[in-house]
Amino acid sequence: MESLVIEGNHTLRGRVRVSGSKNVSLPLIAASLLTDEPVIIEDVPCLLDVCIMKEIVSEIGMGVGTEKHNLYLDASTVNRFTASHSLINQIRASILLLGPLLARFGRAKISAPGGCSIGSRPLDLHWKGLAAMGVKFTQRNGWVEARSNRLIGNHIYLDCPSVGATENIMMAATLAKGETIIENAALEPEVVELSGFLTAMGASISGAGTSIIRIKGVSSLKGARYRVIPDRIEAGTYMIVAAMVGGGVIIENVVLDHLKPLTAKLEEAGVQVVESKPGEVTVTPASFLQAVDIETMPYPGFPTDLQPPFSSLMTQAHGLGTIRETVFENRFRHVEGLTRMGADIRLNGQSLSITGNSNLWGNRVQATDLRGGAALVLAALAAEGKTEILEAHHLDRGYEDLELKINNLGGNVYRKRSRQEDYAQASASYA
Ligand code: EPZ
Repeated sequence: MESLVIEGNHTLRGRVRVSGSKNVSLPLIAASLLTDEPVIIEDVPCLLDVCIMKEIVSEIGMGVGTEKHNLYLDASTVNRFTASHSLINQIRASILLLGPLLARFGRAKISAPGGCSIGSRPLDLHWKGLAAMGVKFTQRNGWVEARSNRLIGNHIYLDCPSVGATENIMMAATLAKGETIIENAALEPEVVELSGFLTAMGASISGAGTSIIRIKGVSSLKGARYRVIPDRIEAGTYMIVAAMVGGGVIIENVVLDHLKPLTAKLEEAGVQVVESKPGEVTVTPASFLQAVDIETMPYPGFPTDLQPPFSSLMTQAHGLGTIRETVFENRFRHVEGLTRMGADIRLNGQSLSITGNSNLWGNRVQATDLRGGAALVLAALAAEGKTEILEAHHLDRGYEDLELKINNLGGNVYRKRSRQEDYAQASASYA
């Protein structure tokens, strides 16, 4: 396994450009299965999760071409309706194969998806929504086989505004017979972008970005060319980096409208956030960083994906900050690492109390998930001395060119391979 070694206490300055959104790119790759015409997706980030999603769709027969950040996809050659468990169980987004495969071919076979271990992450709303459209499921040896002669539109109420379930049902409904209404749909920008992409393919969708989405089924969808929007979570992470260890960092390629809850909380804490020009944000640290309270909520509330990085910032604030996590039930796994670095954090159920003004020191810590890993990177940047973050692959899932971007801002981050890997590579070269 690889680790990241970070030398802390550098003031970061300069410009950093946000990559395309991981959580837009993944559903768009799945949605490309809905047509047998070529699809081009631009500004797709080079991330582990995207690579795995590309492997999954190419394993079922989709033509996949990559040229820098552009993806060229051709689903006219799809000839399988499932992929290897070893791929499916690495990412959460593999569940998004269901809707498109059922809509196009009437069948799909899927095993348990993977993704960050931040809670139980049930799939009941995916099953409920697709079953309401006429899908029959059979379970066998850990696999779920889904079949439908013809998807029929229906009125589906989601118990909670699940992003993935909204996306899966929306994709299935594009080729269903009649109209589908998704009530209590997720409002996230990623859902809006998926709707935009499907509409470009000829789907008939209205209401994306509101809690009621209407989809009128059509007979077929055509190819499309679509540009992925900037990753709001990567952008937010670098805004927090700038607030924590910056000396005037400019973040490029940002849709600030998608980050209102974070901006509001940073400004409440005394940080200055200015859109210096469209799509460009200058973040100036507070002269006196004030502790604030946050509670994560579905969009447009404070995003759960920025909760771990924000908790690192609160270790440097003056006063007591509280963080309440309401979306996922196990999203405090980064607290152990922060504590090992000197943070004073009390965990009580779904809430954290963070006594700020902590002097953090470098240590050997372990990343447990993508955004928890980001929290450890932030703490390491503020800490005295060197920090080694084990299991760096978690970060590669959602932050493109992390070392490069931080080092270009004046940081000192490098990747270290484990001794076992060096030995294995050395012995292989003598074989
Ligand atoms: C998406 O996950 C994102 N992942 C997550 O980002 C993000 O944290 C999450 O949405 C919430 O915004 C991708 O888009 C690939 P959900 P998803 O279904 O779709 C419950 C990251 O770091 N639920 O909206 O899995 C669930 O338990 C990742 O980039 C059900 O109860 O999230 C959770 O409490 C992490 N039944 C809540 O809904 C279901 O069938 C939100 O889950 C589905 C979900």
